[in-house]
Amino acid sequence: MIPDTELNIWEHSESLRTLCLRRALGQEPEMDCAAQGAAILAPLVGRAREKNPAPPRLLDVGCGGGHFHGSLARRGIAVDYHGLDYSPSMCGIARQAFGRLGLDPARIILEDVRQLRDFQCQFVVMINVLSFNADFREPLDRLAATGAEAMIIRDNFGPKTIVRWEPDGYLDPGHNHLKGYWNQWSKKEVAAFLADLGYRSSFAPDARAKGRVELVVDKPYRWSWLVAEKSAKP
Ligand SMILES: C[S@@+](CC[C@H](N)C(=O)[O-])C[C@H]1O[C@@H](n2cnc3c(N)ncnc32)[C@H](O)[C@@H]1O
Repeated sequence: MIPDTELNIWEHSESLRTLCLRRALGQEPEMDCAAQGAAILAPLVGRAREKNPAPPRLLDVGCGGGHFHGSLARRGIAVDYHGLDYSPSMCGIARQAFGRLGLDPARIILEDVRQLRDFQCQFVVMINVLSFNADFREPLDRLAATGAEAMIIRDNFGPKTIVRWEPDGYLDPGHNHLKGYWNQWSKKEVAAFLADLGYRSSFAPDARAKGRVELVVDKPYRWSWLVAEKSAKP
């Protein structure tokens, strides 16, 4: 189910929508996390294309305005890009930007990742998304079902899981009573869950946060990267 759009925090920030459209059109500086995500992905895509030269299919989960496509294109990382987001206005922005850039807006899928079915891909990228979900298990289970050989995830990973359900506080006037999740996930719990799904996890520091705790709308975030690669079949 796509959450009630009235209650979805991603539907209620005009300033974020404006920023996302500008970013998707390449009118804003590239986000550090997009640059790092592309750098992590490049050798994996390179190796995949040595086996099969066709650009591998990639799903950008919680794509927002779809700016990560630009980070890949600028670096010549050839993938068959698809973006997915459960926010109708974010998908609208991504489709508008793709149309203006001469790309196919049908590459943007309006869907809750927890409901994803029958979608196969070689790579999954999920940057700044998992933390905003009630639990990590449902999204990761659905993403493993895509058969992806690697999932590259930037999120709030720390020594233990902390569930935070708090007001955003930076939304459009009249919407600041709305609450969202701002969770931190235990690296150990996530790695154990992914191992059960057949993935080997490794964590890497975030180039921007450099191990510091960052505040995201006043909530503490320990940004780090998880690269989960499908274990070879025994
Ligand atoms: C902080 S934004 C990140 C956007 C983009 N990945 C980036 O790094 O700029 C989080 C995005 O994830 C989306 N999102 C959160 N949970 C989701 C879910 N369960 N299924 C699909 N999209 C989701 C939100 O709608 C929002 O657009």
